[in-house]
Amino acid sequence: MRDVVVIGAGMTKFGELWEKSIKDIFVEAALKAIDDAGVDHIDSMYVGAMSSGLFVGQEHLGAVMADYLGVTPIPATRVESACASGGASFRQAYLEVASGASEIVLAGGVEKMTDGADVTEALATAADQEYEVYQGITFPGLYAMIARAHMERYGTTREQLAAVAVKNHRNGAKNPNAQFRSEVTAEQVMKSTMVADPLRLLDCSPVSDGAAAVIVASMEVAKKLKKNPIRVIASSQASDTIALHSRRDITTLDSVVRAAQKAYKLADKKPSDINLVEVHDCFTIAEITATEDLGFFEKGTGGEAAEKGWTSIECKRIPVNTSGGLKSKGHPVGATGVAQIIELYEQLNGKAGARQVEGARIGMAQNMGGSGASCVIHILEAI
Ligand code: COA
Repeated sequence: MRDVVVIGAGMTKFGELWEKSIKDIFVEAALKAIDDAGVDHIDSMYVGAMSSGLFVGQEHLGAVMADYLGVTPIPATRVESACASGGASFRQAYLEVASGASEIVLAGGVEKMTDGADVTEALATAADQEYEVYQGITFPGLYAMIARAHMERYGTTREQLAAVAVKNHRNGAKNPNAQFRSEVTAEQVMKSTMVADPLRLLDCSPVSDGAAAVIVASMEVAKKLKKNPIRVIASSQASDTIALHSRRDITTLDSVVRAAQKAYKLADKKPSDINLVEVHDCFTIAEITATEDLGFFEKGTGGEAAEKGWTSIECKRIPVNTSGGLKSKGHPVGATGVAQIIELYEQLNGKAGARQVEGARIGMAQNMGGSGASCVIHILEAI
């Protein structure tokens, strides 16, 4: 496999984008990425999207977006892996360039969730229909069970869950593309409306519209363009049982553990080498389990780490979700994994503004589908 780099990035603001269509927002992000990379063509493209059929009645997104972007007849493929669709889209672009099949590939992701569909029902299609959804469970419900089990087994507290939301809203307030640019206090989180006990409104990622795109290329192309490329030093993916009841332990997400082990091996790095990480905090408990399962903190101590501020930008021990994460930046599900890569791209280029982690050289992105049935991990390094 040859060296693969990211040479450009672009995204829309995340939020309620009622005045724009799914095509408008994808094209906006893709054109920004193409312009940023300074390329005059792309060889192929991928579109990560979880459920555009249910959300806006439009499938066949590969061809739809190639058409509206004006790049037909290049190959254009939609990639679906529930909330990990964006990460999986980026991985396909990486593999295509790494294999030598293409030189310049666009990896994008998009979702339009606020146009009137029953979002909770649409999202639940990523869980086990027979054993979970028919019984009435929702995604907040699944993660509430994980949170409750983590609290009982490790003594994780309500305050520790709140600390994740407080930190992510603080980071998101510094991100011009974030859906919520307001800080919240722990008290506000703990008094917000109950959604699925113990998870409250401010423990949840929101319902969002948005699109993100990056340009992935070979090192040869990057050299010709005289760009400051960011190298992809690991791309890994793992799966797990779809239903929570089949797991050996619901407080550890094995797909995250396995994908992380593979990524560290591919990159020849260890958790202490990583300068920042974007994790899939669809709910506050998911950030706590991710920081443990990725090896940044011992099992059971992720909540304590969040409460002690070890995941903040200022602490530098391991800044987590400098973008604001899904919690504050927003979670248009198909776009999320690509937006995580964009945060790393900006940070490793020293262009993250008020969110900048000083001296950041190596970053990790962990994107998850469902209640952890799929996980995609990438590690990027500044050259
Ligand atoms: N964080 C912060 N504020 C939020 C929010 C969130 N997650 N969700 C909604 N809000 C705000 C809205 O902006 C609105 O504020 P306003 O009154 O000032 O305008 C208010 O809360 C009510 O919004 P509303 O859209 O009516 O909320 P809701 O009750 O319909 O939805 C949730 C709230 C938590 C149920 C919904 O955001 C949700 O389902 N989140 C999880 C999404 C999910 O499962 N994603 C996949 C993960 S695997």
